[in-house]
Amino acid sequence: MSKNLYIKTFGCQMNERDSEIIEQLLAQEGYVATAEPEGANLILINTCSIREKAEQKVFSLLGALRPEKQKNPNLLLGVTGCVAQQEGEHIRERMPHVDLIVGTQQIYRLPEMLDRLRQGMTSKEIATNLENSFTIPPFQKLLINAPPALPSIACAFKRFVTIMQGCDNFCSYCVVPITRGREISRSMADILEEVEILVSQGVREITLLGQNVNSYGAANPVTRQPLNFPRLLREVAAIKGLQRIRFTTSHPKDLTEDLMRCFAEIDNLCPHFHLPVQSGSNAVLRRMNRKYTVETYLEKVTLLRRYRPDIALATDIIVGFPGETDDDFQATIDLLNRVRFHSSFSFKYSDRPHTRSAEFGDKIPEEVKSKRLSILQEQQDTISFERNCEYIGKKVEVMIETKNGADFKGRTPGNHIVHCPDAAATLLPGDLAMVCILHAGKHSLRGEIEN
Ligand code: SAH
Ligand code: SF4
Ligand code: F3S
Repeated sequence: MSKNLYIKTFGCQMNERDSEIIEQLLAQEGYVATAEPEGANLILINTCSIREKAEQKVFSLLGALRPEKQKNPNLLLGVTGCVAQQEGEHIRERMPHVDLIVGTQQIYRLPEMLDRLRQGMTSKEIATNLENSFTIPPFQKLLINAPPALPSIACAFKRFVTIMQGCDNFCSYCVVPITRGREISRSMADILEEVEILVSQGVREITLLGQNVNSYGAANPVTRQPLNFPRLLREVAAIKGLQRIRFTTSHPKDLTEDLMRCFAEIDNLCPHFHLPVQSGSNAVLRRMNRKYTVETYLEKVTLLRRYRPDIALATDIIVGFPGETDDDFQATIDLLNRVRFHSSFSFKYSDRPHTRSAEFGDKIPEEVKSKRLSILQEQQDTISFERNCEYIGKKVEVMIETKNGADFKGRTPGNHIVHCPDAAATLLPGDLAMVCILHAGKHSLRGEIEN
């Protein structure tokens, strides 16, 4: 019987990387990953639980797949990722047609679980242990030598490398420490080996991934080496042939001057920094357990810009956190206007299971949250547009990602999307081109190739 696998991925880049790992792992078992669910006999939903809506999406998709499951007795349906971790067995109560439930640290067990299901040894498989041990699950080491042509890999020249898993910060609203467990860093040697292999396969851009990369190495009793993120960054950046390096995400409390200096000193480190602020009100930041103030955040931004004036800053913001007053919200808008982020991702607060803020009183009504979100997004759109206009007339280096007829789409070092005609049709994905920017929109730039 042919084995066709379809994975639907929700959530963050950690999940995207996990989907890649699953595809690689199951390719070794003879599964062919497909970009469409039709014809698949294994469907995996790699889930996100960060907000209530993200979780609802998973359950409605699972519900929509029930008729498929009834039509095709050979179809196996599985749930992986953060909702699987959080809900475990409860998923079966709501969705009894689900065959397997695999938590965030157990995906390397998928082959044996699938074997047991296929052989009829069992009708359900569930693995949701969070080991929280100081050993990196073996799959991360094993699966570095991968074929790049997998459906989950959007651009073969850009890849993610996970440098740590879990999170110990326990922001009061956040489910990640619950779904991903304690923070554990991989060894520097493993990471360097992985990047070297990817670069030797033609990869030109690497994004180092972790929930809080700035604290890389803080919890690594495996090696007991004094690891730190700037050191890792310098060593990765020195790998010959690596053209661009990025990282995400950073926690402001752990942003050191040493890391800022990297932006001035490392040529291939892209001047793009995602530094989630969450709120512009100290009272809200305190209740969020973020462990910094608006003042220290602003000081760090000023210093960072001194090291790298052209750095493009992005952020995350939550509106409608329990107890957020009009004044608190106004303080967030003021912060937006002071920092003038190039982009921001903003969300309406929602309660998550087992988090502290779920127990807080003073919940903000839905209509107030919606109103605040649209005010904030409108303001950010204005700022993003003005920021993008600053590029008009400038030459920027663009890495080509996709081609659409005679047009290509690529990204600048600052992570701006650029559209550009390629009349000579000589450029290929992965190539670098110098582009003169002619037009700016809220979300992208348009230009022409400089010869
Ligand atoms: N580790 C990263 C990303 C965490 S999740 C970090 O610390 O920045 C991505 C974003 O989702 C967060 O930055 C936050 O803005 C948002 N988020 C997390 N929990 C949320 C909740 N309960 N309601 C609304 N947004 C939330
Ligand atoms: Fe969640 Fe905070 Fe950890 Fe980010 S740092 S993953 S927001 S607990
Ligand atoms: Fe979502 Fe889990 Fe990532 S909750 S944001 S997929 S760590």
